[in-house]
Amino acid sequence: MAAPLEILTANPPAGTDPGDIEAYMAGGGYGAVRKALTTISKDGLIEEINASGIKGRGGAGFSTGMKWNLCADRYPRYLCANADESEPGSFKDRLLLESKPHQIIEGMIITSYALGINLGYIYIRGEFFQIIDQMEAALADAEKHGFLGKNILDSGFDLELYVHPGAGAYICGEETGLIESLEGNRPYPRLKPPFFPAAIGLWGQPTIVNNVETMAQITTIVDMGAEAYKQIGTEEDTTGPRLFGLCGHVKKPGIYEYDSDVTLRELIYDAGGGIRDGNRLKGVIPGGISAPILTPEEIDTTMGFGALGKLGSMGGTGGIIVMDETTSMVDALLNASSFAAHESCGQCTPCREGVPWMNDILRRIRNGRGRDEDLDLLLDICKQIHGHTVCVFGQAPGVWPVRTILVKYWPEFRACIERKELVVLPVEESYLRPGQYEHIPPVPGNFRMKTNEADAAG
Ligand SMILES: Cc1cc2nc3c(=O)[nH]c(=O)nc-3n(C[C@H](O)[C@H](O)[C@H](O)COP(=O)(O)O)c2cc1C
Ligand code: SF4
Repeated sequence: MAAPLEILTANPPAGTDPGDIEAYMAGGGYGAVRKALTTISKDGLIEEINASGIKGRGGAGFSTGMKWNLCADRYPRYLCANADESEPGSFKDRLLLESKPHQIIEGMIITSYALGINLGYIYIRGEFFQIIDQMEAALADAEKHGFLGKNILDSGFDLELYVHPGAGAYICGEETGLIESLEGNRPYPRLKPPFFPAAIGLWGQPTIVNNVETMAQITTIVDMGAEAYKQIGTEEDTTGPRLFGLCGHVKKPGIYEYDSDVTLRELIYDAGGGIRDGNRLKGVIPGGISAPILTPEEIDTTMGFGALGKLGSMGGTGGIIVMDETTSMVDALLNASSFAAHESCGQCTPCREGVPWMNDILRRIRNGRGRDEDLDLLLDICKQIHGHTVCVFGQAPGVWPVRTILVKYWPEFRACIERKELVVLPVEESYLRPGQYEHIPPVPGNFRMKTNEADAAG
């Protein structure tokens, strides 16, 4: 059985004032900055991050080392730590920001030093009022202690870091929307490819956008060394500790630190204490609302980005939404779709028109006015949106929840239409098994619904 870890969550220890820089330093804090700036070359640091195998924790699971290597050879370069965390079901960044602010700052200093960056921002979700103040205080303390500003630790390296509050729009978490917002513009995402922020980012300059947990992980990698770091988890899949946020119908919701070899079953039944009221599990979303849903038969998967990808889902943000037998999957999807319809930035037509249209159809199904053709119509709209939008929002959270909750829990949607009311079927009748999806047309692109047993086995 997987054992909980205390690596990312170790310093400062629970019960200590997280803003107390002295307490953080007493626990070894800012040791990684000292080690990086005084004993490792910039190239050596980049090699160390590459060797650690770390994948970014912002959702896509993209290799951090590769992103750093793609940074165009132009200066100035900028760093943006993404703390916009607005994905429904995700709250691990909030915990880190509240309780480990200096670990994030350390990671940002190390990243900036390695990449020759002298100016960086922490872009924080606008609703995190208290965190914004706490982070500003933590930056001021770090500067007072000589870890920010001019000639840090006599290394000749200068760095300024600023907090930038967002205004509460989900799309500002998308890296190019974030950059537009930082520039003072409406946060319309930029089309990519051809240019990614590492080539053309903030003010047209090479910019590294990394999630705040990724920044905290950089501190850990330098602290323990890449060799030790990659022993945590599985090198072929996902290395390092992970923060999983359990929410929904579990007895003990919260943030849990494990490696990625932990199974979803262990997280729900051991860490989370099982389902509330002794109820049965109906479905679980393993990585924030955009991540395709898994049925009760799929929870023996490990939680690496690769393992979840093989099941047609994704690791995403590690925000796990557990739904028990009392849940109406029609209601659950309507809820997810209402969020997406509200947050579409409106820049491109398929997303602006298609996502709210799907929401209208789902609402009429939920209210007992569904039409026979509605499920096929929903799938057709998914197809029109998928891959035809400026940014990934159109797909996730636009299409993927609709596509996967609808396809897997097809019988429950059909029952609502046929009986003209909201129907919650018994768990075993509510969803299809692999091999039963053949009537569903495939959606092109990077999301693939497993269509038979062989596929499901990987
Ligand atoms: C619609 C949308 C919203 C996103 N929101 C966030 C967010 O709140 N925080 C985050 O770190 N990444 C978010 N991302 C991913 C970022 O675009 C980017 O990939 C990430 O910050 C890179 O960090 P990482 O490489 O450390 O994972 C979002 C992506 C999309 C498409
Ligand atoms: S896909 Fe949606 S969120 Fe992304 S740019 Fe287009 S309208 Fe905006």
